[in-house]
Amino acid sequence: MTPVRVLAVASEVYPLVKTGGLADVAGALPVALKTHGVEMRTLLPGYPDVMRLLSGTEELRRWPDYFGGPGRLLAGSHAGLDLFVLDVPHLYARPGNPYVTADGVDWPDNGVRFAALSRVAADIGHALVPAFVPDVVHAHDWQAGLAPAYLHYDDRPRPGTVMTIHNMAYQGKFAPALLGSIGLPWHAFNVDALEYFGGISFLKAGLRFADRITTVSPTYAKEIQSDEGGMGLGGLLRQRSDVLSGILNGVDTEVWNPQTDPHIAYRFDAEELTFRAANKAVLQQQFNLDSSDETPLLGVISRLSWQKGLDLLLEAIPTILREGMQLALLGSGDRDLQDRYQAAARANPGRIGVVIGYDEILAHLIQAGSDALIVPSRFEPCGLTQLCALRYGAVPIVSRVGGLEDTIVDIGEADTSGHDATGFKFAPVTADALAGTLRKANVAFHDKLTWRRLQRSGLATDVSWRNRAGDYAALYRDLMARRS
Ligand code: ADP
Ligand code: GLC
Repeated sequence: MTPVRVLAVASEVYPLVKTGGLADVAGALPVALKTHGVEMRTLLPGYPDVMRLLSGTEELRRWPDYFGGPGRLLAGSHAGLDLFVLDVPHLYARPGNPYVTADGVDWPDNGVRFAALSRVAADIGHALVPAFVPDVVHAHDWQAGLAPAYLHYDDRPRPGTVMTIHNMAYQGKFAPALLGSIGLPWHAFNVDALEYFGGISFLKAGLRFADRITTVSPTYAKEIQSDEGGMGLGGLLRQRSDVLSGILNGVDTEVWNPQTDPHIAYRFDAEELTFRAANKAVLQQQFNLDSSDETPLLGVISRLSWQKGLDLLLEAIPTILREGMQLALLGSGDRDLQDRYQAAARANPGRIGVVIGYDEILAHLIQAGSDALIVPSRFEPCGLTQLCALRYGAVPIVSRVGGLEDTIVDIGEADTSGHDATGFKFAPVTADALAGTLRKANVAFHDKLTWRRLQRSGLATDVSWRNRAGDYAALYRDLMARRS
């Protein structure tokens, strides 16, 4: 097997910096690819947490003026990941969320911040680091979208390029004037290049110029070719459908392992599902819910945004109460949703528990202790929490979109698909359909045999990266073969 060298470019990488699933994927994929003969190094910005955690640091390059201030390219490692870190303090030495200020608004210079990241990715593609000359540059989301564009306009021999879409809703839109300050030619302001409704879009740049486009599930790959799912870029994706494919995400099965998880109260495996009850009791305590093993406990771990459909779950709270169920929600995001969930918790003590914030440890406990995990998304490129739920014996209740459609087998579909049912799927994505499915899940919960069967087939589902990483390895190899 010929070894392949791949430079991955991502704006967040678990466990160094994370706001969502992109970080999980960027952190787990390089490790999984090792057994497929792929040597992957990951380039990310030198945010304060990254600089603090990086070890074995070596300075590869120093610039007196990199996009308006001094900068360095470092090599180093963390948690088994080989990293390139772009240390440019005037762009990245800012605490907190990588994209927004403490008030939750985008940093005004995000265009320059992520153009700088893509510029150095393209330079590494051109052998800036002689010890690691990549065969492929793999850009994740809009923050890395300019990498394929720089490589295109540089007009030199270049590596192959892959653009992966984790979320069409974030397109990296900026004013055209930015082009002048990020070293792209003015003719890139063109409808067949970066121009997008009078501005420029970094995601469009990646989709336009990458040799291959992937997204994180086969169903999302279809959805984004429609006008609605493409969110403005459906036409371009239809044009490029011959190079577009969907590869499902996996989860890091070391981090998410109920047999060894240090964050849960009681560890368990498929044979000892009764031990989940002990985690449920701790979860009920932590969310100030009445302690009762017989009460079905619904869990949610999510960003609170329009995408995730959690306004629909708020509308379904009367059903949750009427059905005698409980809800434990961990999330942060939209102020309005945060306030409404907190109000629901105040109005229903013992029944609705809400923690606003980002808390990895609590996320693990919800997976281990809730009976069902709800993901009512309006769209979901892949979704990772339902995969973790399968692995922890929490039965997923999901909307029938994107990766949720591809990863969960509905209780009514088991016979036709040939796979055992692992959860519940609802459509259309409305509060009524969700409420109806919650009622159905409640009936199933009280039929112990049915529920155990759902849990066991979830636990038997392979949600690891093992096979999925092989699809990326095959894609890189195919790209290399066609380019040589
Ligand atoms: P997205 O990337 O759209 O947010 P995913 O389901 O792909 O959705 O990934 C979300 C990741 O972030 C999961 O690892 C999930 O456990 C984690 N997560 C989301 N919200 C929180 C939170 N409030 N606290 C802890 N972890 C969270
Ligand atoms: C995005 C999507 C989510 C996906 C994740 C990782 O944030 O919203 O569905 O699982 O990226 O690919």
